[in-house]
Amino acid sequence: MMSTAAQPRPSLSVPTNDIPPEHIIYGRSEAMQIVRLKVEKVATANVPVLIRGESGTGKEMVAKLLHRHSPWASGPFVKVNCPAIPGTLLESELFGYEKGAFTGAYGTKPGRVEMAHRGTLFLDEVGELEPALQAKLLQLLQDGQFCRIGAQEDKKVEVRVVCATNRQLEDEIEAGNFRQDLFYRINVVNIELPPLRERTEDIPELVDYFLHVYGEKYNRPVKPVSPQLMRQLQKHSWPGNIRELENLMKRYVILGSEEAMTDELMARGPEPSYLDPHLPADGSISLKKLTRQAVLELERKVILQVLEANSWDRKRAARALNISYRALLYKIRQAGLPAKRARPQSVSLGELAAEQSAD
Ligand SMILES: Nc1ncnc2c1ncn2[C@@H]1O[C@H](COP(=O)(O)OP(=O)(O)OP(=O)(O)O)[C@@H](O)[C@H]1O
Ligand SMILES: [Mg+2]
Repeated sequence: MMSTAAQPRPSLSVPTNDIPPEHIIYGRSEAMQIVRLKVEKVATANVPVLIRGESGTGKEMVAKLLHRHSPWASGPFVKVNCPAIPGTLLESELFGYEKGAFTGAYGTKPGRVEMAHRGTLFLDEVGELEPALQAKLLQLLQDGQFCRIGAQEDKKVEVRVVCATNRQLEDEIEAGNFRQDLFYRINVVNIELPPLRERTEDIPELVDYFLHVYGEKYNRPVKPVSPQLMRQLQKHSWPGNIRELENLMKRYVILGSEEAMTDELMARGPEPSYLDPHLPADGSISLKKLTRQAVLELERKVILQVLEANSWDRKRAARALNISYRALLYKIRQAGLPAKRARPQSVSLGELAAEQSAD
């Protein structure tokens, strides 16, 4: 039992998304039925869970749902976004420090692990943890103990650890970046969230749901989408997954125009031209040039879609694309994309501000 853990600080509780986790839409796809079964079975058991899925597939939503149905639902849900905190700060953020542990440590500070006592510690993008922190996390999972930086003694804490990743951790293990023993510890139960393009049968239910939610939120009457638009939605590849669909539906509710949606999907849409290269009359072709052009074209399309899916938040888009923020800025310039999304003129600033803050 832990006697010294500090009470959770309210400042660390996670801002809730628009949609509370109870309102998760599973749909009818088989993959999501498996997710539902696993969530129901595992929520009440205090075992570590690893949630995997592409960006925007609902990993955080599932983590919150697991928390809400855990025996410690009344305790804190503490999220740590591993890549967002610079390496040197992450250790003190996670495990805390004692007075004098390093220059500038004028007092003691509990870490987020302690704050999650009798609650859930959600480690987002756990694959980004560096080796020293992986070792400390392993100790926490093995015996519930950890050590503040500069402390003489270990502390004990009771937490349910839920991790998320959009990387193939097996590859990271192979490359020597992630500890295999830690992988086994965090992966006692594994929940795989399928990409939206692999469960297009769920799109109509999700669309209805988002129209209902945002129609009420923005106080707009909403028309159900036409069969043509629905078909287009089901054909789209959704690199930003449910977040992308949700943002698109928000705009549909605000703009009230199906045409705008069709245009937007078309703009994200047509197959790139490299799939149908025009050979010169003599039949010669530079494979090298063609490949380079294909890569650039594909990159441009994916970057644009991921920016859209993340409401042009370039930091989030860089994380979703698994590249550095600087690399993304460079690629945006290289692809001739604008730095910001061009906004439609017909929406009032207040509505757009509301839309932005809701993202
Ligand atoms: N099954 C679902 N039903 C309804 N809404 C969902 C569902 N899954 C995700 N969402 C919504 O999609 C958005 C993205 O979900 P979430 O933040 O959980 O994804 P994520 O996998 O953690 O993404 P990232 O990898 O980018 O952090 C949220 O606004 C959430 O409300
Ligand atoms: Mg997330």
